Parts: sequence; structure tokens; C-alpha cells
Amino acid sequence: MNADLLQAVTLLKAGELVGIPTETVYGLAADASNPAAVAKIFAAKGRPADHPLIVHVAGADQLDVWAREIPPTARQLATAFWPGPLTLILKRQPGVPDAVTGGQDTVGLRVPDHPLTLDLLRAFGGGLAAPSANRFGRISPTTATHVRNELGERVALVLDGGPCQVGIESTIVDLSRGHPVILRPGAITAEDIQRVLHQSVSSPGSPSVDGPRVSGSLAAHYAPVTPMQLLDTEALRQAAGARVGAGLPCGVFARQAPLESDLLTFVQASADPATYAHDLYGVLRDLDAAKVGLILVEATPDSPEWLAIADRLGRSACGAGKD
Ligand code: TXA
Ligand code: MG
Repeated sequence: MNADLLQAVTLLKAGELVGIPTETVYGLAADASNPAAVAKIFAAKGRPADHPLIVHVAGADQLDVWAREIPPTARQLATAFWPGPLTLILKRQPGVPDAVTGGQDTVGLRVPDHPLTLDLLRAFGGGLAAPSANRFGRISPTTATHVRNELGERVALVLDGGPCQVGIESTIVDLSRGHPVILRPGAITAEDIQRVLHQSVSSPGSPSVDGPRVSGSLAAHYAPVTPMQLLDTEALRQAAGARVGAGLPCGVFARQAPLESDLLTFVQASADPATYAHDLYGVLRDLDAAKVGLILVEATPDSPEWLAIADRLGRSACGAGKD
């Protein structure tokens, strides 16, 4: 086993925190069976203690260790999408610590699709509770450097698995209340899930969803410190023009540069949703670090494959500038 992996297992068994790569975003991991270790996650993130954490496991054979009354839909989705960017909310086994579930009767489970973290999970032999490795309310990290910059001494070790492939957090599906409900959109879409289950799923914002405690569902989330506006193409062009016309700098993330100016820090947005998602959080971090004073982001197309991105952009714009 490589030396970092060995050290990670030792630290986790000793109740310490380790930054882990996944295909979505980097996680801040602790031994899910150790409440004192899990408490350190909340302290490091500055996250409210009643927000539940996802338990990362090595394979679908671990479902029964953490969950009970598992419906056939859970096995079908696990077979279709694990390892991968899908979290299943299921009724929990009685032994799952309250520190992990926020005291709820459910637990979130996921098998991440990253070779290093799968090796770690196998070597560790248990479940790893891991939220995204950012400070509460801020942008999720998609490189090991992001994690170190954001959490510094708060994390004992960060395993470097390179940049995250997907770039935005997993799709969360609640299977604990009979009918499947998507609590957080992600790279795996409602259509993908419906195709496997041969039944409809409810989506966020549906009237039937009665507001479970999902911190990613807070309106202000995934936010840069710099004020950020989400605008359609023409409004963005006008806003950038007004800003630059006033002699002020401005960051723009759009498919085309709205104008030519030394005051403009322009980052080209991909027209492909998978590439856009892969780039998104790194771009927001870079524009934040560029100290441009205002970030303008072009709204994305209104189609299902852009839904998860539009969700994150909306929350980023809502929470931006509040630090
Ligand atoms: O892609 C991901 O899911 C990443 C990587 C690290 O796996 N993790 C992640 O964790 O995004 P976090 O904690 O930042 O977001 C997980 C969301 C939270 O909003 C939490 O409230 C929700 O999942 N969650 C976890 N357990 C839950 C449960 N039992 N019921 C409802 N929501 C739950
Ligand atoms: Mg998060």
C-alpha cells in the first residue's frame, strides 16, 4: 500500500480527519462509527451539528451494515450507478451515530468513484463520514490544493487524487419515504434514475417535498466571497459595460467575452454541461482570488442536463459577498 494511504488509515483509525478525493468534490473524512471523530468534521467546517453527513462505503454490499428496510429500488440504483455520483437516503441501522445522521432516522450512503478513495475504504474496512471539504456555505473543493488552502491545519492529511472528474456534488435521492425524491440534483439526472426504476421521481421544489434537512438546500450555499450576479447574455453584456465604463474591474464567466478591456477578467464557459461542471468551482475560486470586486456569470440553458449546474449557480449568487 502506498505510504499516504497507510498514513490515512492510521489517522482515521485514531479518530483524525483526512481530506479525500472523490469523482465529485473532495471530502473531509472521519470514521463514521466514531462520534468524537465525526464531531471534528463539524468543528473544522464550522457547520451546524444537525446537518447530516454522507457515509462513504466501499461497495453496495455495505448497504445492510448502515441501512435497514432497504427497498429494491436502492439495490437497482446501486447496481446501475455505484461507484458513482449518487447518494441514497435510506432508513438507518440503529447503531449509526446521531453525529452522522443529525439525529434523523435516515442515513445517506454513497460509493465514490475514485481509485484512491476506493483503496482507502477497502483498507480502512469501515464507513467514512465525509461532507465536502470546504468551510460551511462556501465553494466545494475540486483539488487537493483547494482543501489545503481552505482548511489548513484543521485537516491532518489531504490525499491528492488529482482534480475531480465530475466537479459538482452527487445527486441525492431519498428512498426512505416510499416514492423516490431527488433532494439535490447532480450529474445523474432524474431521467437517468427514472430509466432504471421505470417510475417517476419527484424533484427539488416539487410541492410534495416537505423540506428535509439538507444543508445544500439552503438558498445561500456554494458561495464565493466576492459579490456574484447570474445574468442572461444581454444583461451580462450591459452590466459588464457599465462596470468597466465606471473604471471598475469585473470577472466574467460566460460563453463569449462581452467586451474587450484590461479591467475584465474573462473565463470562457464550456457549452458542454459535463465540462462546465468540471470547471465551475475552480473558476469561481479563481475569480474570487482575482479580487475583481464583482463576478458576472452567464445563465446556463434551461434544459435537464444543466439543472444541477443552474442549481449551484443560483445558490452561489445568493450567498456571494456575505462573508
Ligand atoms: O458528492 C458528494 O456528495 C460529496 C462528496 C464528498 O461525496 N459530499 C457532499 O457532502 O456533498 P455534503 O455534506 O457537503 O452534502 C451532503 C448533503 C448535505 O446537504 C446533507 O444535509 C445531505 O447530503 N444529507 C446527508 N445525509 C442526509 C440524510 N440522512 N437525509 C437528508 N439529507 C442528508
Ligand atoms: Mg457541501
